[in-house]
Amino acid sequence: MSRLPKAFRKRSVRERNRLLGELLELSHDERAALASGHGLLDLADVMVESAVGFMPLPLGVAAGFRIDDETYDIPMATEEPSVIAAAGFAAAVIRRAGGFCTWADEPLMTAQVFLEGVPPGGEAAIAAAEAEVAAALAPLLASMQHRGGGFRALRARRALTGTAAAREVVCAEIVIDVRDAMGANVLNSAAETAAPILEHAAGGRRVMAILSNAARERRAGARFRLPLSKLRRGAHGGQALAERIVLANEIAADNAERAVTHNKGIMNGITALALATANDTRAIEAAVHAYAAREGGYRALTEYRIENNELVGCFSAPLAFGTVGGAVGFHPVARSALRLLGDPGSERLARIAAALGLAQSFAAVLALVTEGIQAGHMRLHANRLAFNAGARGEEITRVAEQLAQTGSFNAETAGRTLQELREAHDSSGL
Ligand code: MEV
Repeated sequence: MSRLPKAFRKRSVRERNRLLGELLELSHDERAALASGHGLLDLADVMVESAVGFMPLPLGVAAGFRIDDETYDIPMATEEPSVIAAAGFAAAVIRRAGGFCTWADEPLMTAQVFLEGVPPGGEAAIAAAEAEVAAALAPLLASMQHRGGGFRALRARRALTGTAAAREVVCAEIVIDVRDAMGANVLNSAAETAAPILEHAAGGRRVMAILSNAARERRAGARFRLPLSKLRRGAHGGQALAERIVLANEIAADNAERAVTHNKGIMNGITALALATANDTRAIEAAVHAYAAREGGYRALTEYRIENNELVGCFSAPLAFGTVGGAVGFHPVARSALRLLGDPGSERLARIAAALGLAQSFAAVLALVTEGIQAGHMRLHANRLAFNAGARGEEITRVAEQLAQTGSFNAETAGRTLQELREAHDSSGL
């Protein structure tokens, strides 16, 4: 069961904020940070250079995700109106069919040290320096090792193409199990610590030393199986809907322009979770899109098929989420977001992200192959029109409902509707 009270999403925003604070037993400061960013100016100052304030985004919750037989209420930070609604819708449909199954690789990340002017045989010399590199990194990795992670491998390969200078370049890769960290800091330190040893072993000079955000060995994936009898939308039956979803996915597998938008739909969920938990959204996005292009062409990252009267949906990609270190560890809103998820480790968070990405894609494609996405978007857009017209509190819902009823989604109608609403309110003597 979701930990949130029934009909949570139908409560007012102030009530939802209060209820969440109570549920998570947030301190006064944590609640203030969640509600308004209040008290975070010093935090902004230590997070970035030349801080002047915040760019607050809405934080919402997509409730009731069933993932590996547990229920999760997923925090999401996003500026796009339909994203959380779509995630919550998909969560409910898939929950009724048993939920998502997920998996994740060990949290292995790679740091790269590029050396130039490396004579033939340099790669083998680097490989032979593995024990020396491991010993040099031991102090840096001690706490990670204590938690079951640490140094895993050293390998090297030569650039085989390019100019003569490029062909003398060797890339040494240091593989580290970073456990619950995203790992950027430790990998960069490891690469810089190892560089002089590698230079000496290979007989070359360091060009640069930095982690790779590709995170190819840190993938996570999710799958759902939805009986066709549980898939229905208006007049559309399960078989026809499932066939259209499979076809839409085949189009995205074949057409790169469509695949970009399709994968953007997946990332609507994953990035919103990354942002809510103060993870590195750019690193995760770069890795996911590079993975989508791993075979040359850019492809859709989901697969859908019909099997035994069920629609089967799958998604996998590198998902380098951290739950300790970096901004994750000290941003109070991110800490609250993680608490809502039951304080998962990095592997669990990546698995939740994979399920969320798949849910987001399923909801988007289902809408696209039926009524289109504008119908839902316009309903949510009506809230913004009402807000811009000056509506506040309950007025927002009432003006938006009126706009949806008339189908007239523009600023002028919103302004007029608000005025009429206020006049009716005044003349009723309330
Ligand atoms: C909109 O934010 C996301 C979609 O464009 C995704 C898709 O086209 O699959 C609806």
